[in-house]
Amino acid sequence: MAAEMTMDTLAAYKNDFESGCAEFLSRYPDTELYAPVRYLMGLGGKRLRPALVLAACEACGGEKAQALPAALAVELFHNFTLMHDDIMDDAPLRRGQPTVHEKWDANTAILSGDALHVIACEALLNAPHKALPELLRVFHRTALEVCEGQEQDMAFESRSDVELEDYMEMIRLKTSVLLAAALDMGGASAGADTKVREALYEFGLHVGLAFQLQDDYLDAFGNPENFGKQVGGDILADKKTFLLIRALEKAHGSDLEALLSELGIKREGKVERVLDIYRRLGVDAELRDAMAGQVALAEGALVRMKTIAPQSLPGSEAAMALLHGVAAMVTARLS
Ligand code: IPE
Ligand code: IPE
Ligand code: MG
Ligand code: MG
Ligand code: MG
Repeated sequence: MAAEMTMDTLAAYKNDFESGCAEFLSRYPDTELYAPVRYLMGLGGKRLRPALVLAACEACGGEKAQALPAALAVELFHNFTLMHDDIMDDAPLRRGQPTVHEKWDANTAILSGDALHVIACEALLNAPHKALPELLRVFHRTALEVCEGQEQDMAFESRSDVELEDYMEMIRLKTSVLLAAALDMGGASAGADTKVREALYEFGLHVGLAFQLQDDYLDAFGNPENFGKQVGGDILADKKTFLLIRALEKAHGSDLEALLSELGIKREGKVERVLDIYRRLGVDAELRDAMAGQVALAEGALVRMKTIAPQSLPGSEAAMALLHGVAAMVTARLS
């Protein structure tokens, strides 16, 4: 029942976002530069981040319309990072369709990605004037952190000494801070006080860590039918995911030798052989435990938020229910 309510609320926010987004993008010309922007945005996606912006705003007593500019900025920015990330990760598929650099070419994806980043910034300029300086501060700080995380993600590919702690910091930067910023910016759009926004941010960080752990899990063990991306891409690129780091720590003897021999080379059957080792070592179960730990921390942050300033959270029950349900939804997702 609670899960159903979360899904319904998410669908309602998604609808609000889609109509706002269609209207906003129609302001840009129908030329080649914007075609990949329209293509990628048109492929949909879960729209989790804009839903979090709108839910946080309503939970803090604001109107959804106040937070639409921040929701647009966050989702457009997210799509910009995907356009460039897919070049960096040499990814053929996104949301079940060819990536922009596959459909066009890398130069097109770089330039249209740059345009998409600027469009995201322009979307934010329509935010309530009082909140704008704060929104710009959070948004730009977050954008730089995502770049820092992406730099670490790429650098880790050719390193074999990456520890779990390094991995957690890398995924905090490349993924979690944007979910956290989505919640924070929703709060800021509603004019929420700092303490509430800090709790929202902390909640988002843990949801984001759980989200990226699940993403790494699906990249290895997901069903190609609904994942929408190439399964095994992280293994092919030697991404230092939770799974690979723990496998390198746990493996001994022939397993360790076999695992090390796969790194740095893309041989036929690499994905299947590495997955066998992961299963034998039980690192998939460890990942799920780590994810459950992050969900528990997220729930703790939410409870704290309500005790800090209950009077600052006059918002709708549905919005609060979405926040409560989102961590569970993130860890059950299949795409
Ligand atoms: C993909 O994000 C990038 C990661 C941070 C793992 P999503 O899984 O939210 O992608 P869409 O927007 O729903 O397609
Ligand atoms: C994505 O990490 C992080 C950003 C796009 C900033 P991934 O590389 O794991 O995302 P997917 O799996 O391609 O969506
Ligand atoms: Mg990628
Ligand atoms: Mg990547
Ligand atoms: Mg991934």
